[in-house]
Amino acid sequence: MKSISLTRFLIEEQREHQHLDADLRLLIEVVARACKAISIAVGKGALGGVLGSAQSENIQGEVQKKLDVLSNDILLEANEWGGHLAAIASEEMDLPHAIPHRYPKGEYLLLFDPLDGSSNIDVNVSVGTIFSVLRCPDGVTEPTAEDFLQPGTRQLAAGYAVYGPSTILVLTTGAGVYSFTLDREVGSFVLTGRNLRIPEETQEFAINMSNQRHWEAPMQRYIGELLAGKTGPRGKDFNMRWVASMVADVHRILTRGGIFIYPRDLKDPSKPGRLRLMYEANPMAFIVEQAGGAATTGRERLMEVMPTDLHQRVPVFLGSKKEVERATAFHLAGG
Ligand code: F6P
Ligand code: MN
Repeated sequence: MKSISLTRFLIEEQREHQHLDADLRLLIEVVARACKAISIAVGKGALGGVLGSAQSENIQGEVQKKLDVLSNDILLEANEWGGHLAAIASEEMDLPHAIPHRYPKGEYLLLFDPLDGSSNIDVNVSVGTIFSVLRCPDGVTEPTAEDFLQPGTRQLAAGYAVYGPSTILVLTTGAGVYSFTLDREVGSFVLTGRNLRIPEETQEFAINMSNQRHWEAPMQRYIGELLAGKTGPRGKDFNMRWVASMVADVHRILTRGGIFIYPRDLKDPSKPGRLRLMYEANPMAFIVEQAGGAATTGRERLMEVMPTDLHQRVPVFLGSKKEVERATAFHLAGG
């Protein structure tokens, strides 16, 4: 079979469907190009002199790795001149990045986590890039953080790249989920997965168990039932996988099913979860729903959360539909 590049895929999508216009297509291509550059930098590892700390902190008080900063710079530089964006927001930047005046502005807002799973960078475990695209509100020419505060249901496109044994780009523009594998020799992303579907049922869960003592009661009870296995109320054994790079954990779930949970915990009451709504949870929720899965906060549909802060955190339950619904029901019942 002829291989289909990301470029060809996007042009054909644009021709066939109304949901993709020339600027959005350009945006996705530019993000994909930046992901190629990040993939190369990540792949060089110690040889590229890119491992270790950048000796700085981001807005959330997390120590930035050299590759966090480099990936952010690559994405900014690739995206600011094309004329397709009104502004850019990133996990690594306190405030949105304005498009320099010397370049034309477009109608889209781009948000990203430039390098997700940073704790895995120095140990040679999969990391990734997550992105989300929104429309700039009508009449706004100098977008501020407020203009980004739109619920996930308004996303026009979302995706991630996972830098693992192979580099894979996963994309949705609201008409199914597609995956592309980077052909390193040719330098292009090639379509390798069409209309990905997450199995509705699963026997695999992903959670950081070290936080167990801080979880709320419904969460304790839900995981307790999974751990009880065959002789417990669920009547089957569950397996656990935890990469600690959200991209890699979500990619596994997209491939073979599972439930990923980063719940609210009581360790630090000022933080209603670990993951960030706008550039981690929402894009993953969009992808997972488009693949037939579900994504909630444990209480409500994730993509319907009305954001109040660009960097706000949120509890995340996503993956196989039936399992996410079950876990969510525990919280809604309060028990
Ligand atoms: O970006 C946040 C992140 O790195 C996710 O990729 C991952 O799921 C999570 O943090 C792991 O955090 P922790 O080790 O604190 O559980
Ligand atoms: Mn992240």
